Amino acid sequence: MARQAHAIRPLVAGNWKMNGLQANVAEALIVRDAVDGDLASIGADVLIAPPATLMTELSAAIGKSRLLLAGQDCHAAPSGPHTGDIAPEMLKEAGASAVIVGHSERRVDHGETCAEVKAKAEGAQRAGLIAIVCVGETRDERASGFTLDVVLQQLKASLPEQSTAANTVVAYEPVWAIGTGLTPTTSDVEEVHVAIRRELAAIFGEDGERMRILYGGSVKPDNATALMAVSEVNGALVGGASLKASDFLAIVRAYESR
Ligand code: PGA
Repeated sequence: MARQAHAIRPLVAGNWKMNGLQANVAEALIVRDAVDGDLASIGADVLIAPPATLMTELSAAIGKSRLLLAGQDCHAAPSGPHTGDIAPEMLKEAGASAVIVGHSERRVDHGETCAEVKAKAEGAQRAGLIAIVCVGETRDERASGFTLDVVLQQLKASLPEQSTAANTVVAYEPVWAIGTGLTPTTSDVEEVHVAIRRELAAIFGEDGERMRILYGGSVKPDNATALMAVSEVNGALVGGASLKASDFLAIVRAYESR
């Protein structure tokens, strides 16, 4: 029997990475104004993950806006002797409603394993944050035909057992597409997203059917509409193009006519 298609509210998330000084606050406020203004009835959630240094300020500035904020990473524990780390509870208190975990830049630059990513996601869920869990293959893994094996293995090992559609978002981000201007073909994106959906449904049942699966990796205004139209793509995780409000909003507008 064909799987029932569920109406899933998409999420367009901007990951500022290690970018964002006082001068950039204005860009977030432009996004806030659009999200509460002419995009108020758009059928998608919109989120910015600023550097942690701007979280409190942005949270105060956006107030009761529909714009959501997220951390870019967190520690698994609620507190403790972990110099330089940020607990999910701290992000929550500072105004975040989500946190990205397992981004490939964390997995590569900081050697984070799937087990660590899973512990962080558990911490996020404990704190009442949505865990945005990233998975994705490298260029070599794709070239060797291992894309689905790698992605599904990361998925199984990184998602906490108690994950639900409400507290977890999956982001498929091919490592070779991040910051390179390269993207997979829409049929390659579809192949991976359909496989992720099947796996999520097998593990989490109804929740797995409704969990959002974002595509990330060189999403730009000129390719967003095509990528967001792919089956089982429920939004985007945007890096470079989220730094300018006009570009980011052009991506959000891919959901305007739906
Ligand atoms: P990019 O980054 O849009 O600059 O490719 C995406 C990401 O790393 O989330």
